[in-house]
Amino acid sequence: MPNRTLNIRISRSAAAYPIHIGTGIVSSLSELALSGLVPAPSRVVVVSNRKVAALYADTAVKSLRRGGLEAHVCLIGDGERFKNLRTAERILQFLGSVRSARTDAVVALGGGVVGDAAGFAASIYLRGVPFIQVPTTLLSMIDSSVGGKTGVNTPFGKNLVGSFYQPQCVVVDAGTLRTLPGREITAGLCEAVKQAAIDGGTLFERTSRFLHDPNRELSGQMVADLIARQIKFKSQIVAGDEREDPLHAGPRSRKVLNFGHTLAHALEKATHYRYLKHGEAVGHGVRFAAALSKNLGLLSSNELNLLNDVVLRAGKLPPIDSIEPEAIFASFKFDKKMIGNELQWILLEGIGKPVIVPHSDIPRDAHRRSLVEIGGRG
Ligand code: NAD
Ligand code: GLY
Repeated sequence: MPNRTLNIRISRSAAAYPIHIGTGIVSSLSELALSGLVPAPSRVVVVSNRKVAALYADTAVKSLRRGGLEAHVCLIGDGERFKNLRTAERILQFLGSVRSARTDAVVALGGGVVGDAAGFAASIYLRGVPFIQVPTTLLSMIDSSVGGKTGVNTPFGKNLVGSFYQPQCVVVDAGTLRTLPGREITAGLCEAVKQAAIDGGTLFERTSRFLHDPNRELSGQMVADLIARQIKFKSQIVAGDEREDPLHAGPRSRKVLNFGHTLAHALEKATHYRYLKHGEAVGHGVRFAAALSKNLGLLSSNELNLLNDVVLRAGKLPPIDSIEPEAIFASFKFDKKMIGNELQWILLEGIGKPVIVPHSDIPRDAHRRSLVEIGGRG
């Protein structure tokens, strides 16, 4: 597959960075991501977990050493439950222990958990050091590695501590998807459907065509095209609203990327981040937000059915009928998407037409009804 490079420019900040997409390009990490840094780093800490490191850290480290860099690997726990302040502190301590300097770099090699935690540590270590994203899950390729949101979970909820910190470069090696388990592929495809539903038009059509294709390949040209289109969409939204301005309420506000996420975060929290993959929770969340949109008279039944069909083609989602509804609804009371005391819902007036609706405008029973309609307990 020919390598290609997208460029993201964030309009209100000085950030502009390349996103390289290809196959087998972890082996060119040094040339693609580090050689252009000014001033040049002399040391690189690759943050990863045991599973991903066993597959790809050697290749990454070899490339860095070939480029004349001192390379270290910092391992963190695998899974959402490790995306916490303790892990961030562990990364900070590792950086200190190898004497990483302000011009040295941090590379996140892994999925969104590694990327979010390593990015957060990079943003606060010495008040910010160069950071490179090397996403290895579909979800992190199309979503979390681009746009500069970093952070960790707290006992109060998901991603409640973090920073906006753009990477210097993103290296997307679609070849790493060959080793990704089926459930993780489904999770990534659910985030792809989320972005497609918000953008509508060509992105929805291409994503849905990919999902309908019985011969779809997860490591070839087709998936690379899908990844590139998805990243373009995300980067356009981020470029217009890098810091998710609380007062930006338009259809291109960064808030719309949270479509499906209010229920998703509630499901993850209610199940202690152990039962559902984040993307699977987003799959349920997209169906819930669509059902709610229909129940509020915003979305037609035809569009609801179309969206449900696309989510179901992403793969099988773990059932949610054993999750206590009150535990889910309790999470709606404290979510990052609150403005003042009020939670803001991202709903759809049509595919490609997101709208922000205050929680108080939604009758209580509409939530319960929508939850039952997507397979939750009443
Ligand atoms: P993850 O990071 O937990 O990775 C999923 C699993 O796949 C892990 O077990 C990991 O070890 C394994 N894995 C990763 N790459 C692999 C590979 N190539 N081969 C085999 N196994 C591999 O999960 P995720 O879905 O990548 O990320 C979810 C996280 O991303 C959540 O914490 C979510 O909040 C966050 N997120 C952040 C943003 C953002 O803008 N920062 C956006 C969306 C999601
Ligand atoms: N995934 C949500 C965002 O990047 O804003």
